[in-house]
Amino acid sequence: MSVKQIKENIYWVGAIDWDRVIFDEIIPLPEGTSYNAYIVKGSEKTALIDTVEPAKGEELIENLKTLKVEKLDYIISNHTEQDHSGMIPEILKLYPEAKVVTNKKCKQMLIDHLHIEEEKFIVVDDKETISLGDKTLQFFLAPWVHWPETMFTYAVEDKVLFPCDFLGSHIATSELFDTSDENKAKIYLEAKRYYATIMMPFRKFIVKYLELIDQLNPEIIAPSHGVVMKEPEWILNNYKVWVSDEVKPLVLIPFVSMHESTRIMVEFLARKLSDLGVAVRPYNVMTADIGNIAMDLVDAAAVVFATPAVLAGAHPSIISLAYLANGLRPKVKFASAIGSYGWSATATVKHIQQNLSSLKAEWIEEVMVKGAPSDSDFERLENLARTLAE
Ligand code: FEO
Repeated sequence: MSVKQIKENIYWVGAIDWDRVIFDEIIPLPEGTSYNAYIVKGSEKTALIDTVEPAKGEELIENLKTLKVEKLDYIISNHTEQDHSGMIPEILKLYPEAKVVTNKKCKQMLIDHLHIEEEKFIVVDDKETISLGDKTLQFFLAPWVHWPETMFTYAVEDKVLFPCDFLGSHIATSELFDTSDENKAKIYLEAKRYYATIMMPFRKFIVKYLELIDQLNPEIIAPSHGVVMKEPEWILNNYKVWVSDEVKPLVLIPFVSMHESTRIMVEFLARKLSDLGVAVRPYNVMTADIGNIAMDLVDAAAVVFATPAVLAGAHPSIISLAYLANGLRPKVKFASAIGSYGWSATATVKHIQQNLSSLKAEWIEEVMVKGAPSDSDFERLENLARTLAE
């Protein structure tokens, strides 16, 4: 995809990464991603809003040439992470007259990460504006979506919001806008995956940014990954549900099984929950896409970690998943554990609990069995299913 117009004199000039498969070495990207950068041309001045991942930098430069951007006055940096800021040094070489416009915290982080010279910056504060002539850009500090220095840029007259990572989605598509019905289901899933893996830990902060955006009432939301939303109500409404305290009657069972005992327990518990009318989703964490688990954590009511005892604790892959779930801070209300052990399970359960210190979930008594489950163990699992269903 080359340059695309968003509104009069506002253009997408980013890059699409069709085959990127992982982000931050942790988040799977089944649909690739894009790095969205934008040009806003005023009657007097021109601004570039964010840049792209350096590996895709040539595409940004090519797009600026296509658009015949001969003079660049401002590079707006909403966020330091290199997929948006990494090309600023190169752009400054091409446009030495340009100034980097950002907030105080982001300025320092850009100096630390990219060694940009101090005199290149113009520092803006919350709600401050700069004029491009017939267009005004206003800045809103938005710390913790998802770094401490993040901010939004708003094209006031055009009512276009550039919230950087916030409200984005990792999706590579030649359809830049959200107006195709065919694409909407896919966009929804990728937006939810993005929220789950990147934004969920910050849901308490997000509430107030959603209120701010409601007040601004933008016509278009143009994030730094994925599609540009010309009908932004759908994404805002979904975010309001995701950040609310409401959960769905869904029980997640991430599991690992070494010699089948734990798997038998997982399948029995899943069957009993299902019989009781509770939605249930077991995930074998050895093969599951952790993005899918994170998506279900967005609104699941409970999570049951299923693991054999190994190496004097829980299985390392279950601990890794518990650590991740703890960091994502989902709104699950209940947590428990099931599994099988050879001679002791005390350390196994503690090992999981120690890794859930940030989860505000009530612990339901675990069901750990010696060897293979017996009739009395199945009864205990049935009781656990009933407690979860209640
Ligand atoms: Fe898309 Fe936080 O970088």
